[in-house]
Amino acid sequence: MSMPFIDLAAQQRRIRDKIDAAIAKVLDSGAYVMGPQVREFEGRLAEFGQAKLALSCGNGTDAIALPLMAWGVGPGDAVFCPSFTFAATPEVVPWVGATPVFVDVLPDTFNLDPARLEAAIAGIKAEGKLVPKVVIAVDLFGQPADYPAIRAICDREGLKLISDSAQGFGCTLGGKHPLHWADVATTSFFPAKPLGCYGDGGAVLTNDQELWDLMDSYRVHGKAVAPDLVGRTFDHDTKYLNTRIGMNSRLDTIQAAILIEKLAIFAEEIALRQGVADRYAEGLEGAVIATPKVIDGGVSVWAQYVIEHENRDGLATHLKTQGIPTAVYYPVPMHVQAPYADFPRGAGGLPVTEAKAETVLALPMHPYLAEDDQKAIIEAIRAFNG
Ligand SMILES: Cc1ncc(COP(=O)(O)O)c(C=O)c1O
Repeated sequence: MSMPFIDLAAQQRRIRDKIDAAIAKVLDSGAYVMGPQVREFEGRLAEFGQAKLALSCGNGTDAIALPLMAWGVGPGDAVFCPSFTFAATPEVVPWVGATPVFVDVLPDTFNLDPARLEAAIAGIKAEGKLVPKVVIAVDLFGQPADYPAIRAICDREGLKLISDSAQGFGCTLGGKHPLHWADVATTSFFPAKPLGCYGDGGAVLTNDQELWDLMDSYRVHGKAVAPDLVGRTFDHDTKYLNTRIGMNSRLDTIQAAILIEKLAIFAEEIALRQGVADRYAEGLEGAVIATPKVIDGGVSVWAQYVIEHENRDGLATHLKTQGIPTAVYYPVPMHVQAPYADFPRGAGGLPVTEAKAETVLALPMHPYLAEDDQKAIIEAIRAFNG
């Protein structure tokens, strides 16, 4: 038996004719950069994520950097984030000269622990070297972080909140998307993400027009945007007027056209993923493993279905011999990786993160996972005696 870990081909077979037509339309138009599909997709994405506005960009990493740049976060500022995440979450913080402060996660949901966050903020304030500015909560493996608790802390401390929803776009808590609590929600369209394109892509969702304008400037080399031009006249084309130092981070028109088609079936795919997760939970009940726990009222988009086992590596090998692929997210937490090891850690360290890195194992998960394949996975796990 062999099966893919994520079967992108199954989705493509379903909508291939629509994708082909969408790509052909872009090829015929010649508008390869910032063509009309980009704005159309941004509008549809905002609507899906219950946001007033969405700004697409080159990838999910830049999507986190853009609000930091627009808010002027820089040297001397502390940005609190989990260490149990993909590198992109802390990586963008030193880009702007600020300092990531690593905070532990909750043992059941793997997401930022609000009590540890409070302790980390208090520690940084007491030390007096850095000024707390931003919290980045990650919707790890697809499920929403504890936004009500994290937002309350941010309000009390006067901090901005970024929802890094690269893995969680589409997740909800009490029916509300993360932007209900966060100042911005960011996502990635990396192909393997629940809403992925056929290359790199990302987006920032916000309800703040002023912030959107600034991020629009930063994503295109710091170009002058409408608010920069108010009350000023120029004797040259303002297209080449640069009012700040930015970067080049645009979503290709072809990717936007592809994403319009994929977004059209995304809600249905989230429901299919939930069905797969339910079958795993039911089939693995009572086996010697921990199955995922979703926060009360939360709906996960199941970017990953992550179980825990004390003999994780033995289980992975056992499954591999039966043609079942697995993956470990993340074997080495960010705070112990060499480039990040000197950044501060919240009071009490990160014992939960360190323990999870030893036990987590992601199983095949995608909306089109066949029931027979899933049965085989469940049986193979139940048969493991390691
Ligand atoms: C939690 C998290 N944040 C950010 C990113 C960065 O996204 P991208 O690869 O599109 O830059 C990813 C995915 O790769 C991610 O998993």
